[in-house]
Amino acid sequence: MEVIEKTAILAEKISLLRQAGKTAGFVPTMGALHEGHLSLVRFCRQQNKITVVSIFVNPTQFNDKSDLERYPRMPEKDLKLLKTAGCDLVFLPDEKEIYPETDTRVFDFEGLDEVMEGRHRPGHFNGVAQVVTRLFDIVKPDRAYFGLKDFQQVAIIRKVVKNMQLPVEIVACPIVRECDGLAMSSRNMLLTKTERKKALVLSHTLFKAKAMKDSHTPDSVTAFVIQQINAAEGVDLEYFEIVDGMTLQPATSWDNENGVIGCIAARVGKIRLIDNIEFSS
Ligand code: PAF
Repeated sequence: MEVIEKTAILAEKISLLRQAGKTAGFVPTMGALHEGHLSLVRFCRQQNKITVVSIFVNPTQFNDKSDLERYPRMPEKDLKLLKTAGCDLVFLPDEKEIYPETDTRVFDFEGLDEVMEGRHRPGHFNGVAQVVTRLFDIVKPDRAYFGLKDFQQVAIIRKVVKNMQLPVEIVACPIVRECDGLAMSSRNMLLTKTERKKALVLSHTLFKAKAMKDSHTPDSVTAFVIQQINAAEGVDLEYFEIVDGMTLQPATSWDNENGVIGCIAARVGKIRLIDNIEFSS
């Protein structure tokens, strides 16, 4: 495994590999890697000759400065995990390598950013689109891998790729959960032991909500989830919405050709967590 810090060196290296007929798969990350990221690396390795992983905590996607400062950073541990997982190239740039000049691009997500995460984190998806398109431009991957825990992010990246006609296939991979149901996230390591226990109400309520599907409407399931989370001590619900899997607009029935997803965001102490569950695909 090779670790590269410079954009020009990585681009040159990948270009040579691609000229030799090798396909490149790419897993963009912000580090603090866990089993969820490693599952993306495994999917990537199965489908591509070379696997490139980037580790870059992208400042433009943090609308909350303290969240950026608090974001866990552990590059040495990450590199060990990536080596064991069989990654070929790790891109570990500093901010100047990604943004030699301020990125002033403003993306049009055709409304996908006006709901859920977008409503609660203004500018977040614009920052994600800035960094992802910049990384795609450097790596020029055949395929890029994203986890479905960030369901709205995947929908938005698909939209950007389609609108900009970027030659990359977006591969969405399933949520990886801890044994007790908590969706894996780099932010979980910021939870105290007590907060981690409290955080379980998110996934457990989503599982119960899914079990209610056959006998309840989306509206009554939504009311149930909101009531359960509001009743949980130390957990502040930001939103729970049951949405169409493509438009992200509220779903009024379970029968929907784009799939129906329930998305939740809540703060447990100071830590903001998201999760989701597929009701139908
Ligand atoms: O999902 C993430 O970790 C980040 O949003 C991403 C896609 C690596 C962009 O910084």
